[in-house]
Amino acid sequence: MTVEILTGKVFLLITGASQGIGQQIAITFSKLLEEGSRILLLARNENGLKETAGKIPSHIGVDCVNVDLSVATADELTDIIKTFLDPFGYDRAVIVHNAGTIGDISKITNEMLDFDIWRKYYDLNVFSPAVLNCVFMNMFNDNNKIKKVVINISSLCGVKPMKSMGYYCSGKAAREMYFQVIIT
Ligand SMILES: NC(=O)c1ccc[n+]([C@@H]2O[C@H](COP(=O)([O-])OP(=O)(O)OC[C@H]3O[C@@H](n4cnc5c(N)ncnc54)[C@H](OP(=O)(O)O)[C@@H]3O)[C@@H](O)[C@H]2O)c1
Repeated sequence: MTVEILTGKVFLLITGASQGIGQQIAITFSKLLEEGSRILLLARNENGLKETAGKIPSHIGVDCVNVDLSVATADELTDIIKTFLDPFGYDRAVIVHNAGTIGDISKITNEMLDFDIWRKYYDLNVFSPAVLNCVFMNMFNDNNKIKKVVINISSLCGVKPMKSMGYYCSGKAAREMYFQVIIT
C-alpha cells in the first residue's frame, strides 16, 4: 500500500510516541515508509519510546529523545532535531503533533481559577505544538524542494463542548485553529 504523504525518503517526527495513539502512528506509518526514511520519536518516558522503536521495521532508522515538551524551548527543540536531521537528505518532512493531555476533568469551569494550571496545560497542549511546528518548518528554510506535511491530532472536543472538559476542549479548539491558520 502507498500513502501519498509518506512517499519518497521521509523524515518523520512524532510527539507523544511512548504509548497510545502516538505509538500506534509510529508503528503503522513506519510500515508504509521507504528505505532511507527516518523517524524521530519524542516523549518523556524513555522505556515507552524504546518499546515503540522496537516495533519499527529494521529498514527504517529510528531515534528517540526523552523530552518534556511542556518546558522545552525553541532552541532546545532545534538542537534535538538538528542532531538527527540532514535537511537535504529527504524528499519529505512529516510532523505529527500527537502529544497531549486531557487535563483535570474533576473541575467544572467555575472552579478553574488557577492561572498556573491553565498555563501549564496550555504550555504542553497549545504553545508547545505551535513552537515545535515553527522550529520544524524553519529547519527546511534553505531547501525549497522538500515537501512538508503537518498532522495535528485533534478531537471532537475541539468543536463540541463537553462538561468538565474546559481545559481539553478549549486547548483542542485553540490548537486546531492555530494549525488551520497555517494553511490559509
Ligand atoms: N484516546 C482518545 O480517545 C483520543 C481521542 C481523540 C483525540 N485524542 C488525542 O490523541 C492524542 C494522544 O492521545 P492518547 O489517548 O494516545 O494519550 P496517551 O496514551 O495519554 O498518550 C499521550 C502521549 O503524550 C505524551 N506526553 C504527555 N505529556 C507530555 C510532555 N509533557 N512532554 C512530552 N510528551 C508528553 C505521552 O508521553 P510521556 O508520558 O512519555 O511523556 C504519551 O506518549 C492526544 O493529543 C489526545 O488528545 C485521543
